[in-house]
Amino acid sequence: MTTPEGVCTDTAIDRQVLETLGALDAAGRRRDLRRVEADGRCRVRVDGRPAVSFASCDYLGLATDPRLASAAAEAARAEGTSSGSARLLAGHDDALAALEAELAATFGAPAALVFSSGYLANLGVVTALAGRDDLIVSDRLSHASTVDACRLSGATVRVTAHDDTAALRDALADAGSFGRALVLVEGVYSMDGDRAPLDVVADLAAAAGAHVVVDDAHGLGAVGPGGRGAAAAAGVAERVAVQVGNLGKALGSFGGFVLCGETTRELLVQTSRSFVFTCAPPPTSVAAARAALAVLRDEPERVERLQRNGGVVRASLRDAGVDVPDGDTPIVPVPVGEDRRAVAVAARLLERGWFVPAVRPPTVPEGSARLRLTVTALHEEAECRDVAVAIAEALS
Ligand SMILES: Cc1ncc(COP(=O)(O)O)c(C=O)c1O
Repeated sequence: MTTPEGVCTDTAIDRQVLETLGALDAAGRRRDLRRVEADGRCRVRVDGRPAVSFASCDYLGLATDPRLASAAAEAARAEGTSSGSARLLAGHDDALAALEAELAATFGAPAALVFSSGYLANLGVVTALAGRDDLIVSDRLSHASTVDACRLSGATVRVTAHDDTAALRDALADAGSFGRALVLVEGVYSMDGDRAPLDVVADLAAAAGAHVVVDDAHGLGAVGPGGRGAAAAAGVAERVAVQVGNLGKALGSFGGFVLCGETTRELLVQTSRSFVFTCAPPPTSVAAARAALAVLRDEPERVERLQRNGGVVRASLRDAGVDVPDGDTPIVPVPVGEDRRAVAVAARLLERGWFVPAVRPPTVPEGSARLRLTVTALHEEAECRDVAVAIAEALS
């Protein structure tokens, strides 16, 4: 038997699952897999409806750059479309080694290690560096991959209020009684667009003998001078033990990477289960990422334009009477509060040709549903101004 939605209800598990889905519906928490077709700029069709997108983390507009496409196509022709193996079996090659050397050089780190996604990179770093005898202090707004990593690690985990440095100091007070202590923060918080107070975090960690791990998925390539990330922008890159970056956002490809010292890199290669027990990234992603790093180096104006556009969106929202938090990153949250209202406002915007997603719990804390704009270097300045006016109208 199938329901009108086409869901099969033949088996006992299907009947139970329908109950769970019904509960999500009742709570207004059911999400849709929408069909979003991109046209190569920031114009999309969402379920067939044309719109200007403020929903992509392709911050520098590289995902549709012909140079990345050519590099990927060439790699596919030369090496195939799959790595076919984990890194420690047959999945490592010269191109991956070159990508890691280029990532380390671009972002000024001693070494880099590529993972098959940013999620896997966070899992790998945290579980390799922290175990049962160790302490992790993590910001409440850390990404789900970090939250999952903390659970998997078996370490003592203390979650502090967002950006609360006094709470961080308290949580680290007995750090010396643990084997190792890690402080986990995000360079740029993915749903709030603010930057962690990395200078204070680095000082507090150093005083407690703890090590700072920065997930800078949204900062490396996008924030700070030359897109070198939140730690570089705060002048603390050398005091951060590990930075985790992303190839699927500003760098227009797919995958994750870790910036760290050579010794830490070696530990990750040996012991990170999410590195060891998964397929290496395909040659296409590796080649596209290398092409992206070349563009980042040769066209610094892309990062400048991205950063300028972020400022225009924030200023225009304020001019239109919409309260937005301070910030200098490409992620701009517009607080709405109630889940259903956020969804309704996003639907109204889509009808008017603007794709600005609503973000609801559990992605953000209860009662803090919001619109989340992600600005890119591809947006025209007029689009950055006009979306703000449209948001003000849709909220009224
Ligand atoms: C802060 C943060 N960390 C990690 C990830 C995971 O990266 P990936 O999508 O490459 O798995 C994401 C994104 O989705 C993110 O926003």
